[in-house]
Amino acid sequence: MPTAEPILKTSLAGLDLAAPVLVAAGTAGTTDEIGEVLDLARIGAVVCKSITPEPRAGNPSPRMVPLDVGMLNAIGLANPGIDAFAESMREHKPGPCPLIGSVAAFDLDGYALVAQRLAALDAIRAIEINVSCPNVHGGVEFGADPNALADVVQAARDATTKPVFVKLAPVVVGTPNSIADLATVAIDRGANAITLCNTVPGMAIDVRTRTPELANVTGGYSGPAIRPIVVKLVHEVYRKVTKDAGVPIVAVGGIAGWHHAAEYILAGATAVQIGAGSLADPRIPMKVAKGLAKWARSQGVDHIGLLTGAMEVPA
Ligand SMILES: Cc1cc2nc3c(=O)[nH]c(=O)nc-3n(C[C@H](O)[C@H](O)[C@H](O)COP(=O)(O)O)c2cc1C
Repeated sequence: MPTAEPILKTSLAGLDLAAPVLVAAGTAGTTDEIGEVLDLARIGAVVCKSITPEPRAGNPSPRMVPLDVGMLNAIGLANPGIDAFAESMREHKPGPCPLIGSVAAFDLDGYALVAQRLAALDAIRAIEINVSCPNVHGGVEFGADPNALADVVQAARDATTKPVFVKLAPVVVGTPNSIADLATVAIDRGANAITLCNTVPGMAIDVRTRTPELANVTGGYSGPAIRPIVVKLVHEVYRKVTKDAGVPIVAVGGIAGWHHAAEYILAGATAVQIGAGSLADPRIPMKVAKGLAKWARSQGVDHIGLLTGAMEVPA
């Protein structure tokens, strides 16, 4: 079996990865399940489905809708809850690539609890904070309110010495704070990496029945069409914040081939994650890693990290 390509080895927020290609939260189970279709020694890491303090059945069906381009989901954070997840991880043998736990909650105490419990698991090497959850008190997503974001990141930072990734929601027109402002808040409170980004809010309507396609009416849109939006977010955060702060960006949105991952790297990402693309073809992360290695060689570098932020802007 081919081994990992040395040119792809990446140090990401203290994690040593075989490649800068990760599986995104919610689109894989754990390494046990995904290991049946992927050679985990040749990808970077797997981010687990977001875990909340209590078990959640999630939203009613239909909660995943394929569209002509991309897909909508309103899974509603269906997950077994932290007690059952921690129990299932107790016997977990470390696989060939790191497992990153994803934290979700609806209040500050919930974030602190799940961050602490996930990070305490030997199998979990880092945590990613999903701040795209509405605050039960204010209704606004934690990640859209700089004060709430600061509190959540601080709570995670206080809960563990393991790396903390903060996964922001895309900032769209009309939102008062820029993505760079939010990334700065997260880094000031101790984030070791910024993941950009979660799904874009969206909805679709069946015009024959005049009903929403998702039972939840609205959901999160992902897939190829969000990529240019996220490339711009990565470019902005890299130039304005993370380049000088020395904090890596993990880009996620619409990757279906190696050239999409390469685009993110040139915009400023140190690594990428693949979500909806993995649902269509679970082997995509390996194909992307292989293509990136070839591309890096064609660019005359001996290490993929030298291409981060290497986009050349004409004078
Ligand atoms: C079915 C599905 C479930 C998801 N569940 C989660 C989740 O539990 N936690 C999370 O942070 N993001 C979740 N996401 C968002 C993805 O991790 C990713 O940020 C987003 O889909 C954009 O990437 P993509 O265009 O490659 O899908 C989910 C996405 C999909 C499609």
